Amino acid sequence: MARTLLVAIASIYLLATPALARWSAWDLFVPAKNPADILSDIAVSEGRPPFGFQDLAQPESASRFGHGEVKSSRPLIGILTQPCSLCPGRSYISAGYVKWIEAAGGRAVPIRFYDSDRELHRLFKSVNALIFPGGLTWLWLDSPYVIAARKLYNWAVEENEAGNPFPIHGACLGHQLLQILVSNVSRDDLLVRTDAVSHPTTLKLTEAAAASEYFGTIAPDLVKKLQDSHYNIAMENHEYGVPPHHYDRWPILKDAYRILSTTVDRNGTEYISTIESTKYPFFGTQWHPEKPPYEFSDKTIPHSIDAIRVSQHTANAFVEVARRSSHRPESDEEELAMLIYSDVPIFTARFDAIEESYDGPDITYFFDVEDRKGQNPFPSGPFPSDGGKDENATASDYAKSYRVGRSYGMPSTF
Ligand SMILES: *[C@@H]1O[C@H](CO)[C@@H](O)[C@H](O)[C@H]1NC(C)=O
Ligand SMILES: *[C@@H]1O[C@H](CO)[C@@H](O)[C@H](O)[C@H]1NC(C)=O
Ligand SMILES: *[C@@H]1O[C@H](CO)[C@@H](O)[C@H](O)[C@H]1NC(C)=O
Repeated sequence: MARTLLVAIASIYLLATPALARWSAWDLFVPAKNPADILSDIAVSEGRPPFGFQDLAQPESASRFGHGEVKSSRPLIGILTQPCSLCPGRSYISAGYVKWIEAAGGRAVPIRFYDSDRELHRLFKSVNALIFPGGLTWLWLDSPYVIAARKLYNWAVEENEAGNPFPIHGACLGHQLLQILVSNVSRDDLLVRTDAVSHPTTLKLTEAAAASEYFGTIAPDLVKKLQDSHYNIAMENHEYGVPPHHYDRWPILKDAYRILSTTVDRNGTEYISTIESTKYPFFGTQWHPEKPPYEFSDKTIPHSIDAIRVSQHTANAFVEVARRSSHRPESDEEELAMLIYSDVPIFTARFDAIEESYDGPDITYFFDVEDRKGQNPFPSGPFPSDGGKDENATASDYAKSYRVGRSYGMPSTF
């Protein structure tokens, strides 16, 4: 009550004296304290924890890449599709990545890894950032997937070298891909087995984390919680990882990336869990910041407010760098055509989550469905009925035919 009155008086006072309008109401009445502390005090006095208010106190200057002129206030984020087999389409994107960037004011543009060079380049020049998502693709150096990723990566390097910021976020498999692309080390040599499927756990932050894009401006309580096994808010889901000593074995990796965190798997194997490029706005997380708010099938995914805050913070940090990119589509028409919204997401968990071990996406975008062995697996809408032959097909029948996740040989790390 007292606070409402205070704000009301302050508003009247501001209206009456325009010269003072540049001062906030808080400054007028309690000039000795900064706004974040005051909001925090109020939250505490009302019995609420001061969640989030620490963010207000974070200096923007702690960001390495998220400053400078904003060149795109409508950032488009390219997401490289993943190959899949026995799924209704030639490639897919887990909707979690789409929503993760949407939460930060970005919009997704699917980039098919089998697109022509010309199309890859057109899309690259249209988007403001790139995501290499998680997945189960074998990252052989000569695979079409890695070759397409390398083209995009090289263009991103060129742009950054030319002074046009262009960020890349690699998650899980995408984090491994970033390290394969700079080193050309075979995945068989670079990666070791880890016991980290469906493993919510901690990050052990290094000194370099303090000056990094994702951790430099994160709320101080989250820095503590990310490292505290009482919370376990970093969601790991992978069968392979890069051990830190591989940066000594291949020094080119040390030149290219700063290790921001490591994590220990269930088996005691330490692997690199977060990296940031030494030169460019390229960020890699072996863990999944995009899962906590959007993925529920895998019951081990954390959904606490802290896990959500980490997700939102990293999305904001990433998309804020994307706003520094000057890329844009050639026309509004092209922009509309390339956005992911023309594709219909499928609620895959509805069919697959009946499997106890399912750790695939809750919601999935499939691309080029009609190219799949000449068959359209959705002949009568999103819930197929085997071309009408089995009108009583259940979700379970469907799941047997079209699996996303373990059942099509893609057991984790999506
Ligand atoms: C890795 O391979 C690519 C393509 O084969 C080549 O252009 C690049 O220079 C190589 N990088 C290193 C560090 O060997
Ligand atoms: C667990 O550790 C043992 C001993 O170091 C190793 O032989 C095994 O491959 C590890 N398993 C996994 C899944 O990492
Ligand atoms: C579907 O179920 C209905 C009702 O149980 C049954 O009459 C019909 O024969 C079934 N159709 C097929 C193709 O099995």
